[in-house]
Amino acid sequence: MAKNVVVIGAQWGDEGKGKIVDWLAEETSGVVRFQGGHNAGHTLVVGGKKTILRLIPSGILHEKLDCFIGSGVVVSPEALLGEIDELNAAGVKNVEGRLKIAPTCTLILPYHIALDQAREASRGSGKIGTTGRGIGPAYEDKIARRSIRMVDLFDVEKLKTKLQSNIEYYNVQLEHLHKAEPVKFEDVFAVIEKFADRIKPMITDVSSTLYAKYEKGEKVLFEGAQGTLLDIDYGTYPFVTSSNCLAGAASAGAGVPPQMLNYVLGIVKAYTTRVGSGPFPTELFDDIGAGLAKRGHEFGSVTGRARRCGWFDAAALKRSIQVNGISGICITKLDVMDGIENINICVGYELPDGSKTDILPFGSDAVEGCKPIYETMPGWTESTFGVKEFNKLPENAKAYLKRIEEACGAPIAIVSTGPDREETIVLQHPFA
Ligand code: GDP
Ligand code: IMO
Ligand code: MG
Repeated sequence: MAKNVVVIGAQWGDEGKGKIVDWLAEETSGVVRFQGGHNAGHTLVVGGKKTILRLIPSGILHEKLDCFIGSGVVVSPEALLGEIDELNAAGVKNVEGRLKIAPTCTLILPYHIALDQAREASRGSGKIGTTGRGIGPAYEDKIARRSIRMVDLFDVEKLKTKLQSNIEYYNVQLEHLHKAEPVKFEDVFAVIEKFADRIKPMITDVSSTLYAKYEKGEKVLFEGAQGTLLDIDYGTYPFVTSSNCLAGAASAGAGVPPQMLNYVLGIVKAYTTRVGSGPFPTELFDDIGAGLAKRGHEFGSVTGRARRCGWFDAAALKRSIQVNGISGICITKLDVMDGIENINICVGYELPDGSKTDILPFGSDAVEGCKPIYETMPGWTESTFGVKEFNKLPENAKAYLKRIEEACGAPIAIVSTGPDREETIVLQHPFA
């Protein structure tokens, strides 16, 4: 039977999932996104050429692969077709022919975006720092059973009735709660009409197609978005996204049995970053943090916002390993740590009552009270950029990786030393 791999972010997102999914996709017959929306920004670099994907799975550059958008994803038709057009313009072949979208996916429509942005503006300094893409309101609709879904594009009269009632619901909030501009039925319907005919041919029974691959023994790769510490249940709530970003969500979000998820690869940066508001125990406010941001080009690929940077947090990773069942970890951006004299690793926290813990607690309030306990290791001066063999890494870099492994309790399967597909060290191949 095939060995399918789930790739998830084990920190606060932007760990380098896109690079690794693109690299691993070569081995598979398909890549599936199972949650999130175009709040994600996954960067692929192939032969020096950069591609940023938001909704389309990071396997699309492999021209024989099918790419799937599962039911757990919230899809903005505008964003989706914009991304397809960008890929077409870049010469990627047959994108529309290879992309399959589940009929049960929730659509993100202009009123979701308007409400997301109006709410953030009303929150002032207490804002979550969302990407403003309408993700939260779209997931609310799904849970409240009022979503307009892909399948509704096939019955325009029914769709119009649902849309009318949703517009009324949203305008009450926009106008009365947030003093924002209401949305017009005609404008939203025009968006749907503009995109429907291009999207309809891509709507496919994704669950059945993936199950057929499973029965044939073909390998499938599941691509997570965001990261475990942004998970709606287990992250730093309320400073989180609105979906489950855990490996377990791949089953429900793609519509496949959990037995299909054989190996969980947790992607982790060699340091930590976070974009948006919320607690971040190992955050750095000094020159070392500024250096990480500069060398790591830590600016969001979706919103361009500066990412906050800090030391590696093994206690946070321990939580990710536990809730995801991580089989192996992939450490990315090791090269960004080059040239730091002394490196700190957070191995636990001191809590407000004086007690200690070696695992990140749940929720923003509890994490707010965590004071990191650091171990200090010597850094290295040599460049690790582009190194492809573990033995060619500086001794102190190897020792740093070893210590991370020991402190978090999961084996390192892959080390990434540069943004390009090729700049990768394999210790234990997830598909082996
Ligand atoms: P994702 O959201 O998890 O896919 O990650 P992003 O693409 O948002 O952010 C990761 C950034 O780091 C991108 O700009 C990648 O090109 C880059 N990157 C990935 N791996 C490495 C690496 O090992 N070294 C360096 N220097 N950059 C990397
Ligand atoms: P990838 O897949 C990093 C963050 C936002 C905000 C919070 C809620 O590229 O790793 P939302 O728009 O989802 O309601 O915002 O979640 N966020 C991300 N941070 N990487 C991402 O995706 C993110 N997607 C959402 O910054 O703090
Ligand atoms: Mg990203």
